[in-house]
Amino acid sequence: MIILGIDTSCDDTSAGVVVDGRKALSNVVHSQVEVHHRHGGVVPELASREHIRNIMPVVEASLSRANLQLTDLDGIAVTTGPGLVGALLVGLYYAKGLTWVSGLPLAAVNHLEGHILSIFLEESPPPFPFVALTVSGGHTSIYHVQGFGRYTLMGQTLDDAAGEAFDKVAKISGLGYPGGVAIEKMAKEGSHDRVPFPRAYMHKDSLDFSFSGLKTAVALYMKKWQEDPATRDESTLADIAASFQESVVDVLVHKVMTARQKTGVGSVVLAGGVACNRRLRERLSKAAEKENVRVYFPRPAYCTDNGAMIAVAGYHRLLRGETADMAADVRSKFPIDAIRSDT
Ligand code: KG4
Ligand code: ZN
Repeated sequence: MIILGIDTSCDDTSAGVVVDGRKALSNVVHSQVEVHHRHGGVVPELASREHIRNIMPVVEASLSRANLQLTDLDGIAVTTGPGLVGALLVGLYYAKGLTWVSGLPLAAVNHLEGHILSIFLEESPPPFPFVALTVSGGHTSIYHVQGFGRYTLMGQTLDDAAGEAFDKVAKISGLGYPGGVAIEKMAKEGSHDRVPFPRAYMHKDSLDFSFSGLKTAVALYMKKWQEDPATRDESTLADIAASFQESVVDVLVHKVMTARQKTGVGSVVLAGGVACNRRLRERLSKAAEKENVRVYFPRPAYCTDNGAMIAVAGYHRLLRGETADMAADVRSKFPIDAIRSDT
């Protein structure tokens, strides 16, 4: 089965073609960083307009790179949530148009399910069950994944997402947008134990996250650092970046390994834009090695938002006979439990 997957949930217009939920023939992403950069974050209205401008060329490029035409496909998958409503609508209505003219079945996909299943685009995916940590600009969640369509939420952020914390800290430090890559680069030159930023572990057994306190702590420290020469002698901007990154990584690694112990599974999967972070990959690999657990990371192009991962999730939905109709709508909030299946 050859599926075209489309994602316009946030600020990337993306489309990919995937065979049997495993092999990507193409994965085209049009980034809107240039547009949002000067605003220091994603402006929803501008994102929708950019999606309208780019959806057609992106989908056409995904088909031509796969050497295929619309008539060669077996289905179309599109993200219907969670995400920015105006942005999601562009992808959904474009996908509806394609299914209308082609008669192909349509799958409505949860964006987070796409992130969790992105690991199946790699050569050796994990066996079920596994624990997945999805860390992106909009989400930080831990799932117990028992099979395709069978996800149990174990913990999530109560305020900011991990990627959002990276973006906000980068903004207040003058490192620009998007922040994750900029912080990681700056952190390489710094010492991660120079500034003792807080770690919010919550109560002992909690698998929930909170990054807003850390963000405030960095903002207060930055203010002192800018105004007080003594604080500037104490640490460099690189030390601040490295210390902040380490606080986030410490908590993420601790919680996902706790979830691993609670479930007793043998594999941990990292997904979402923050999963590109090398320090996080290193630290998680080390922690997992100690417990004889395998860690799986998708390549960076499959960690950040992409259409191929939506095609993977859509393939499994269509296999289960979960076809969407022309009444399908978008949802800004879309809990993953809402798509639980018995298969
Ligand atoms: O998955 P994604 O592309 O979009 C969402 O669904 O949100 O994730 C984007 C997020 C941004 O917050 C970005 O700063 C973060 O992922 N990110 C990183 C890195 N690369 C991207 N965070 C930390 N380190 C990175 N190397
Ligand atoms: Zn995402």
